[in-house]
Amino acid sequence: MDNQRTNQESGAAGDLFERLATRYERYVPWETRLAREIPFLENKLRAVGARRVLDCACGPGRHAVALARRGFDVTGLDVSGEMLALARGHASDEAVQVDFVEGRFESLTEAFDTPFDALLCLGNSLSAAENLEVLESAVRQFALVLRPGGLAITQTVDFAVAAPHPVTPSPVREVTDGGQEILFVKSFVRSGEQIAIHWVSLEKKDGHWRSEVTLRPVTSVDPIYLEQVLSRSGFSPIETYGDYAGTAFDKGRSRDLIAVARRGQA
Ligand SMILES: C[S@@+](CC[C@H](N)C(=O)[O-])C[C@H]1O[C@@H](n2cnc3c(N)ncnc32)[C@H](O)[C@@H]1O
Repeated sequence: MDNQRTNQESGAAGDLFERLATRYERYVPWETRLAREIPFLENKLRAVGARRVLDCACGPGRHAVALARRGFDVTGLDVSGEMLALARGHASDEAVQVDFVEGRFESLTEAFDTPFDALLCLGNSLSAAENLEVLESAVRQFALVLRPGGLAITQTVDFAVAAPHPVTPSPVREVTDGGQEILFVKSFVRSGEQIAIHWVSLEKKDGHWRSEVTLRPVTSVDPIYLEQVLSRSGFSPIETYGDYAGTAFDKGRSRDLIAVARRGQA
């Protein structure tokens, strides 16, 4: 079958995201996402007078660039060099200054010694932590790189709601990029408490379909647990929302948890 290639990929988050970067970039409906998310984020950032903002696990840098366009002094950090290359390309296209730094969210203090006013960790990036210990050290690091009173905004998916079945498929997404047709078929796959994201992309090139298959294990971030971790790490108060329209988080119904947490003054 030389008109069809299938790659199976799994492995550490860094490696996997290197290979996923372009597909992730193409898959996400950025215009819709940014139109929905940026007003909420901007409003929360302005409410605390934030100027210096870290977008942690910034991926292709779309939020970082959008916020820089609105006058914030933004740094983006990601473990994937491929993601950062895309991010730098967007900053250059939009003629904005953003510092993009390669690093891990569980060791932020190695990369930064001047405190930020605010930190974002969006797109369910915390679920890329290898396990809950790593997740907890990442949240502790969030507190350490923020000034007292600084703001952390995280967005995580509650897989108890988003992935209730052994296989929960998302709607097929069709994208045309540079005249090339691409179909994305994404499903959450559950085996007991273990969750993985199964992702198939089908690209038509020179009249032939080519498929790539990815299976990415994720760490399930229970909303109540995340609130406890934020609180243990010195964040208070913590506001919780179920979407970027500002609807209150409703455990068992909200698919997303958006936590907006102030670092304590101590
Ligand atoms: C699903 S993407 C989200 C990107 C972007 N924040 C968004 O909202 O679209 C997850 C990102 O987390 C990054 N990532 C995974 N593990 C990481 C880690 N330990 N430290 C920093 N970034 C990490 C990946 O490289 C990827 O860019």
